[in-house]
Amino acid sequence: MTARQLGLAPGYRLLCYDSIGSTNEEAKCLASSGAPEGTLVWAREQTAGRGRRGRPWISPNGNLYVSLILRPDCRISSVGQLGFVAALAVGGALRAIVRPIERLAYKWPNDLLLNGRKIAGVLLESETVGSEKLSFVVVGVGVNLIASPQGTEFPATSILEEGYGEIIPEVMLEEFVTHFRSWFANWRAEGFASVRAAWLAAAAIARGEPIRVRLDALALCGRFRDLDREGNLLLDCAGECRRITAGEVFPAA
Ligand code: BTN
Repeated sequence: MTARQLGLAPGYRLLCYDSIGSTNEEAKCLASSGAPEGTLVWAREQTAGRGRRGRPWISPNGNLYVSLILRPDCRISSVGQLGFVAALAVGGALRAIVRPIERLAYKWPNDLLLNGRKIAGVLLESETVGSEKLSFVVVGVGVNLIASPQGTEFPATSILEEGYGEIIPEVMLEEFVTHFRSWFANWRAEGFASVRAAWLAAAAIARGEPIRVRLDALALCGRFRDLDREGNLLLDCAGECRRITAGEVFPAA
């Protein structure tokens, strides 16, 4: 299958695999050997799919697993914003395919929830040249279309399990790329402001709501204050505002 057969926009090049370890791993190898921005690595299944924070991403046939190589000319501290761009693209794609889809929301940093359960996640990986210059970013996206893992700490679900029927991965991929292209162009031209606003408008947790945020070694309880201008979570916690750059959000116990 080619990008043209799938109807992908110019500038995107598609590499398809029936089975692969991890599309992110493959995309990183390709990017290190000079693959251009717009290269998409898509697999029908992954045997060693990876999630954030070192977790596995169970990847049976029927869901979407895709990784996109980007070479943005931005500060290293802004790379995390691309996770929000990707999350909005997944949300836009699902809204375009499944009408109407209710209770679709974003959970910090880049998860998508449907009816309060996780249906999609984003894994960003980047490489720098020296300490200043970005070489590439790989944006890995997994969407539970027909199956979801059981027994996860944060409950998961799929489009099919929520009663929205079967979406085939090809259709989801096409729509994802269309929406990503548009949000990415917006981000490049105007920065994070409208991405941040769109994300906040459909955030799973409203400002002021109590949450628990798990960091590496500890958990913080507080109230969601805001998303800052880099995409960090601001948490009002024990009388001070904490800026959180990486972690996992749960409803307050
Ligand atoms: C998360 O933990 O929420 C992020 C999940 C990211 C999974 C996708 S599936 C395609 C790409 N390849 C991987 O190994 N992981 C990402």
